Amino acid sequence: MKFRRMSIEVESPEQLGYDSIRNNLAESSYTDALFRELDPGVDLRELVLCYGSHQGHEGLRELIVKGKPLTSGDVLLTIGAAAALFMIATSLLEKGEEMVVVHPNYATNIETPRAIGATIRTIGLRFEEGFALDLDKVRSTVTPNTKYISVTHPHNPTGACLDDAQLKELARIAEEKGIYVLVDETYRDMVFGPQLPLAAEYSPRLISISSLSKTYGLPGLRTGWIVCRDQQLMEILLAAKEQMHICGPVLDEELAYRYMLHRDAHFNRIKADIQEKFNIVKAWMENEAAELWEWVEPRGGCVCFPRMKDPGGIDLDRFYKILLEKYGTYVGPGHWFEMPRHYVRLGFGWPTASALQEGLSALVKSVREAVIAG
Ligand SMILES: Cc1ncc(COP(=O)(O)O)c(C=O)c1O
Repeated sequence: MKFRRMSIEVESPEQLGYDSIRNNLAESSYTDALFRELDPGVDLRELVLCYGSHQGHEGLRELIVKGKPLTSGDVLLTIGAAAALFMIATSLLEKGEEMVVVHPNYATNIETPRAIGATIRTIGLRFEEGFALDLDKVRSTVTPNTKYISVTHPHNPTGACLDDAQLKELARIAEEKGIYVLVDETYRDMVFGPQLPLAAEYSPRLISISSLSKTYGLPGLRTGWIVCRDQQLMEILLAAKEQMHICGPVLDEELAYRYMLHRDAHFNRIKADIQEKFNIVKAWMENEAAELWEWVEPRGGCVCFPRMKDPGGIDLDRFYKILLEKYGTYVGPGHWFEMPRHYVRLGFGWPTASALQEGLSALVKSVREAVIAG
């Protein structure tokens, strides 16, 4: 494999230094939680720091599929959703084989297949089409050499969502063609409308992945998972995990388990807060930003992907410089997603409401101040 660093990671807020950003609209998760919020009063001094179960904490795996027609045996814990993506790509693909993936995307969904030397067939999501996934295009892009299709729901960076009919169609395509569909559900708990079943419930050929990073603001726990009913594939993924790190970190998994025992309480608070922040962005888009910015309203998640209305008249380097250096505001530039730089990923779940408001105003001021003279 040939690895290279992705600009979304090189230029990430944590690498830039959180202290150098006042209004951080570049995050794709909910506000980071504090350790004391996890489970007040929890005493972990007697926790045995052994090699844990290779599949992962049994109680946590049970909670992940609680109330669903799935068992803990269908769940494999991973070091964040990132490791899940890596394990799936490296288990399903070899150099010269093909995968189909939506574009734009969270970079790893494309970059790991690229590092393997696979042929990547992209399905473009277009602003003009509401970033909707065209499944006829997906179907016609699959070839006899395709090993899997990779989609994201809700989608990063656009916030577009799949519906029940689309997941059923993806299951049909996978079964007919004898391939897999990876459904990156890292933002699943943040859909605005009614919740669909887990992708893994639709077919053994559908693989769900998710984590505690985004909705729950726990990226530092590095706890993610794969859910899939295909036991043969799960055995291969377990082999990949064992060769990478044997088991997950027992401490992180124990903390994640205790957090998930109180999931509903955390979730209700977080959901209300995300709704409030979404309303701030929507009002901004309809008023202060309307002249300069346009967007496809997200249907889930805590990011959206607006673009400048008249990019030809804007000095984009100056725009980003003014935004950060004068207004202390950071967003995800289009190039993080291999898209033109007049698109920005705007994360509205992470900052406080006042930082969000200030950052949004800065986006308008910075465009005005970066207009090319003449
Ligand atoms: C769509 C998507 N999948 C996976 C990940 C990886 O997240 P983590 O490894 O923190 O679970 C991210 C992080 O930004 C993401 O946006």
